[in-house]
Amino acid sequence: MATIIGIDKIGFYSPEYYLDLTDLATARQVDPAKYKIGIGQDQMAVLPADQDIVTMAANAAAQILDQADRQQIDLLIFATESGIDQSKAAALYLQELLQINHQARAFEIKEACYGATAGLQIAYDHLAAHPTSQKVLVVGADVARYGIATAGEVTQGAGAVALLITRQPRLLGLQQPTAYYSEEIMDFWRPNYRDTALADGKFSTAQYLRFLDLTWQAYRAKTGTQLTDLTAVLFHIPFTKLGLKGLRQLTTDLAAATKESYFDYFQQATGYNRQVGNLYTGSLYLSLLSLLDQQQLAAGSKIGLYSYGSGAVAEFFTAVVQPNYQQTLQVACHQQQLHQRQRLTVAEYEQFFMQTGLTDDHDFQIKRQSPHADFYFAGQTDQRRIYQRKEPVK
Ligand code: COA
Repeated sequence: MATIIGIDKIGFYSPEYYLDLTDLATARQVDPAKYKIGIGQDQMAVLPADQDIVTMAANAAAQILDQADRQQIDLLIFATESGIDQSKAAALYLQELLQINHQARAFEIKEACYGATAGLQIAYDHLAAHPTSQKVLVVGADVARYGIATAGEVTQGAGAVALLITRQPRLLGLQQPTAYYSEEIMDFWRPNYRDTALADGKFSTAQYLRFLDLTWQAYRAKTGTQLTDLTAVLFHIPFTKLGLKGLRQLTTDLAAATKESYFDYFQQATGYNRQVGNLYTGSLYLSLLSLLDQQQLAAGSKIGLYSYGSGAVAEFFTAVVQPNYQQTLQVACHQQQLHQRQRLTVAEYEQFFMQTGLTDDHDFQIKRQSPHADFYFAGQTDQRRIYQRKEPVK
């Protein structure tokens, strides 16, 4: 049997609080249709003070890891652009919280929303190069913060996606080669002195679409793939309208009847994203999870994936649906997580927002606010962040 390397399991965690964007539109005196249709978002996850990238990543990964996985992972990659430390990798806190094998490499990587894709491709190469290695954990965790009453406010969100990469995966096989493109541009960035991002939104949209064209053309040239060889194409989704623009651009030359199914799949593939908002580097993989959780795809179907990280790096690659993949998904768990969230008023959201920005060197304690989370951030002592695990129910 030929060796396939790919995604064996996917875990997902997003905060237990959300803001309905109709409420935000009313508060900002904007037509709600601008947010729901023009931007394409319905709700956004709001981070409480007892969660950060480490706890969200731990909550996501804990859903999918069993004891054998914890022993067999020998590479742990934490992708984020919301780092909590300039030196120490969030991967080390995660390794400890999840009790992952110490005979592992654990590190953090950053390139805006492209980080998790870099991690995924490194994971592929690691397993391809080391026959004795068995499993790699890649997590993407972020908090998208633009600021109160900014243009980007409506595209905020938070969450983590955990991907377990193995040989003979149960969900998706990753295909090689892939096509990538990098170029230094200023479309979105966050200098060290800020806890909110700076974005040139219109310019960023144009670059996202330009990089899509460059990587898709390069992918076609490298692999001979036609769009109609792909059942669906998924996108990095900072807000669903941007992915929709990408799909419109990609499908321009297709006949109307052929186009339709790509837009149907896109609709399914943005279900969770519309409710959670921007996860930055996890967004493409949340879109993938939305599709897998809602659609019955035939084994062997090829899915195109477009990853974009501002700054900017983009990659186009494909994944192949594995037989009986539905048996490995935890659909009910993902849906329940979203259903049991608590709705905030705009005033409450603004208060949460102020409590989750940059911290200073003082000691502080944080009360638990996330009743369903296994892991939470408890505060800071002697400039050390304290993470705790919920006591198991006796
Ligand atoms: N009903 C329906 N649609 C409406 C509307 C209404 N009442 N009012 C406006 N719209 C549409 C606009 O036509 C526009 O659609 P288009 O993009 O198809 O042209 C869309 O809503 C946005 O309106 P616009 O006036 O362009 O919004 P904005 O100036 O507030 O900026 C963003 C929107 C997305 C650029 C801004 O939120 C932003 O900068 N976000 C962060 C950028 C980001 O995520 N960058 C990373 C990319 S990877």
